[in-house]
Amino acid sequence: MAEYGFGNPEIIEEEVDILIIGGGMAACGAAFEIGKWVKASGGNLKIKLVDKAAMSRSGAVAQGLSAINTYIGENDPADYVRYVRNDLMGIIREDLVYDVGRHVDDSVHNFEDWGLPIWKAKGDEDKPLRQGGKPVRSGKWQIMINGESYKWIVAEAAKNALGMENIEERVFIVRLINDKNDPTRVAAAAGFSVRDHKLYLYKFKCCLLVCGGAVNVFRPRSIGEGMGRAWYPVWNAGSTYSMAAEAGAEMTMMENRFVPARFKDGYGPVGAWFLLFKAQVMNGFGEDYNKLRGDVIKDEKRFGKYGQGVPGTCLRNHIMLEEMIAGRGPIMMDTPAAMAKLAEKMTPKEVKHLEAEAWEDFLDMTISQCGIWAGENIEPEKTPSEIMPTEPYLLGSHSGCAGIWVSGPTDLPGVPKEWSWGYRSMTTVKGLFTSGDGVGASGHKFSSGSFAEGRIAAKAMVKFALDNKDWKPTLERSTMDLVEEIYRPVRTFLEHKDYTTAIDVNPHYITPKMLQYRLQKLMDEYVAGVGTFYRTNGKLLEMAEKKLEMLKEDSLKMRAKDLHELLRAWENYHRIIAAEAHMKHIQFREETRYPGFYYRMDYNFIDDENWKCFVNSTYDRHTGKWAIKKVPYVQVIK
Ligand code: FAD
Ligand code: ADX
Repeated sequence: MAEYGFGNPEIIEEEVDILIIGGGMAACGAAFEIGKWVKASGGNLKIKLVDKAAMSRSGAVAQGLSAINTYIGENDPADYVRYVRNDLMGIIREDLVYDVGRHVDDSVHNFEDWGLPIWKAKGDEDKPLRQGGKPVRSGKWQIMINGESYKWIVAEAAKNALGMENIEERVFIVRLINDKNDPTRVAAAAGFSVRDHKLYLYKFKCCLLVCGGAVNVFRPRSIGEGMGRAWYPVWNAGSTYSMAAEAGAEMTMMENRFVPARFKDGYGPVGAWFLLFKAQVMNGFGEDYNKLRGDVIKDEKRFGKYGQGVPGTCLRNHIMLEEMIAGRGPIMMDTPAAMAKLAEKMTPKEVKHLEAEAWEDFLDMTISQCGIWAGENIEPEKTPSEIMPTEPYLLGSHSGCAGIWVSGPTDLPGVPKEWSWGYRSMTTVKGLFTSGDGVGASGHKFSSGSFAEGRIAAKAMVKFALDNKDWKPTLERSTMDLVEEIYRPVRTFLEHKDYTTAIDVNPHYITPKMLQYRLQKLMDEYVAGVGTFYRTNGKLLEMAEKKLEMLKEDSLKMRAKDLHELLRAWENYHRIIAAEAHMKHIQFREETRYPGFYYRMDYNFIDDENWKCFVNSTYDRHTGKWAIKKVPYVQVIK
């Protein structure tokens, strides 16, 4: 054992009032906000935040961003709801989206106060947003920033508010533990340090589960060493969805996914190019395929009313995919034409500045794209760049809405009573709250909205903790049982490692890397990944169902030869549960709600009559079975 650095782990047990799991945008929002409410209530609560990585560069904003995609400003939050509803094909929780819309701007103002440079319109350069300064908008809802240090700045504010003594970095949470006396309630979370041989067990009155979305569930387009690169962050491994599902939380819209169109291979985002630089995309023959083929989405039998107005993100993808499938690629972003047009009214100095901005858009957010440009001798003012739809991602804060069903605000007219059960942002499991990518049926929050949602949850958690002041958590599992489970991959390795001479080849175990390949291949080929141009059907899903079940069984045989592999093993386990939820939801929803993101070829149309509803599911960890149902959609905003 000692040879591999594994004796029994040191066990660190701590009892707190509120645990924040994750250190991303939502977690930082909660950390920043929570102290104020504790103070205001005159209470004295112990709060702890635990992140698998280092907060200043963790989560989806790790590399920085170049825009804040949700800033309401001069617009109306009700209009924001209409925009999100249209983009997500008619089915969202409008109460949740409205709540984010009406609160988000204050968070953006704070970011600016903390030092985040926000682009301003001419004449307003020195006027903060809070004092009416006019931002440079790339789109109606998006504003431009110099955001390389965005996460650093936001994390600093969170750390200052919470105090470093209440933050534990580099601890990966593996699972939540339900309460022994009340299994509908969570009482603790267990995980391990990715640096030291320590197991952490946090008991709490309530927790905020905000570990981002799920990446690398599907086979990525990148290969070999490039597999460390995807668009959404590879280190968000579906922990939010799997831990919530295993604790019994009702999930919603897990059939949804996001397949972003991105600059090929570097995964550079397209928003600034489309919205700010007004670039056009063309097919391999230099034709504007949106003009040639754009009408395909007007077919009402297939797309209902959704193709008539401004096409949502999935429908824009659909048009591109049709062009690719017809063999008329590559799809090219005409960056030179866009820049030449903008340069027409510019001085040479301004043109140089524009060229710098083109690079900075990626240097601020997706540095790998600059690597591609430099490596392939691409000067965006001279050479067009290829665009490609990526592998699917499961997320609830960007242009997708997979996630957990949460309690909404109570003060909005027309909202069904059953959408609110006491504490805002609480899931259907008592004491388990979520925000950001965790919240389902409410996309387009982005970085600012996720932070704002974390703040909203913080307030409700303080109330929950104070209302449950005298409640004591009792765990349904023993600490030793958790140690046994969490370190199983290590034990498997130590027990069997000498059976063969090649450490990675062994009939008694599977390496986390190989298991991940298996999951990705399966999801790609059966559950509508890039390999089938995002197409599946009932029969393929039936196969996927069986294969996933076997994979889940085999996941118990993952080995870990070091702490890094232990992390990889548990990330994969989380991915499998998230993948299974996704597959089951697609199987249940007998229509194609998101053409361009995925196609059920046996129901290749939008069916508002039968399927304009939420799909919600619960998972029984003891039997491994899912229960899935329809939940009525209610339009709240006209
Ligand atoms: P994250 O911010 O991703 O945080 C998740 C946290 O959970 C991380 O700290 C992670 O380390 C931690 N974690 C994960 N698993 C565990 C575990 N098991 N145990 C403990 N901790 C764990 N938004 C914009 O507004 N504008 C943009 O221009 C923009 N561009 C983007 C570009 C890219 C390339 C990407 C990836 C995202 C972009 N976004 C943008 C979206 C924005 O980053 C997300 O909406 C936002 O970060 C989601 O917040 P979150 O807190 O839910 O998740
Ligand atoms: S990023 O968050 O990774 O930078 P992206 O660049 O796709 O994502 O999107 C940024 C914002 O621009 C999002 O609000 C997205 O919905 C919007 N957007 C991207 N492309 C278009 C487009 N062609 N038309 C309208 N809005 C778009």
